[in-house]
Amino acid sequence: MEITYKYYLDAWNHHYSYLTDLIIRKKLKKICEIGGGANPSLPIEFIKQYNLEYTVLDISAEELSKAPLGYIKVLGDITSKNLDHLDHDYDLVFSKMLAEHVAEGVTFHRNIKKLLKPGGISFHFFPTLYAIPFTFNKIIPESFSLKLLSYISKTRNNMGNHGKFPAYYSMCYGPTKKQIRILQKMGYNIDTYIGFFGHDYFKNIGFLHWISKQTTRFLLKYPIARLTTYSYLVLSKI
Ligand SMILES: C[S@@+](CC[C@H](N)C(=O)[O-])C[C@H]1O[C@@H](n2cnc3c(N)ncnc32)[C@H](O)[C@@H]1O
Repeated sequence: MEITYKYYLDAWNHHYSYLTDLIIRKKLKKICEIGGGANPSLPIEFIKQYNLEYTVLDISAEELSKAPLGYIKVLGDITSKNLDHLDHDYDLVFSKMLAEHVAEGVTFHRNIKKLLKPGGISFHFFPTLYAIPFTFNKIIPESFSLKLLSYISKTRNNMGNHGKFPAYYSMCYGPTKKQIRILQKMGYNIDTYIGFFGHDYFKNIGFLHWISKQTTRFLLKYPIARLTTYSYLVLSKI
């Protein structure tokens, strides 16, 4: 198990190369993205170039309809009791900015394990507690957080391709001992767990931005798993 800590911009800037490198290096062919919605992570050109079978599963027909043509789109809830309409032999099941929207993290990881072939891999990129912006988002009413986000980011509204969805942050933590224990108990091997520190949510609030930057600097030197902002989690099914 590899546990490391990095700066949050690395998570955003290198997500695509991390994902595609994983697919190429491990020769993963049959792939399912959960919550790919309006923005599937892999472009059609990449899918064709590497001859992949790539399914995008999403709970929202509206979000799926916003995704470009050419993808295999499946409407479904990853926490559903019945996933019979999906294949159960994927090489890779992954998600980006989805895990926090799932009310039951345990069911989410259990169901993904059922979709994987033995030795199959799952990779998740998600925001984590107890980073201040996400802890705040979890506590405050959804209607208020929607207003706040539209103030912070003009591009986040449900009309476009980067909407705001209710967030629960169930099992959304950095590499804490508890999180690792739960995943191992489920029958996963934890290949890589990267915790990222820092964010730019306070960039327009001078004093808070300064404190946030100093805290990030400290945490990169002295990591605390419970204070990460994002994580990459790579699991393999035993
Ligand atoms: C914040 S968006 C992320 C979309 C895309 N992955 C991205 O990074 O732009 C979350 C997506 O997850 C979908 N979603 C939420 N809960 C889900 C569930 N239980 N099962 C499947 N998809 C779900 C939403 O419909 C939405 O498309």
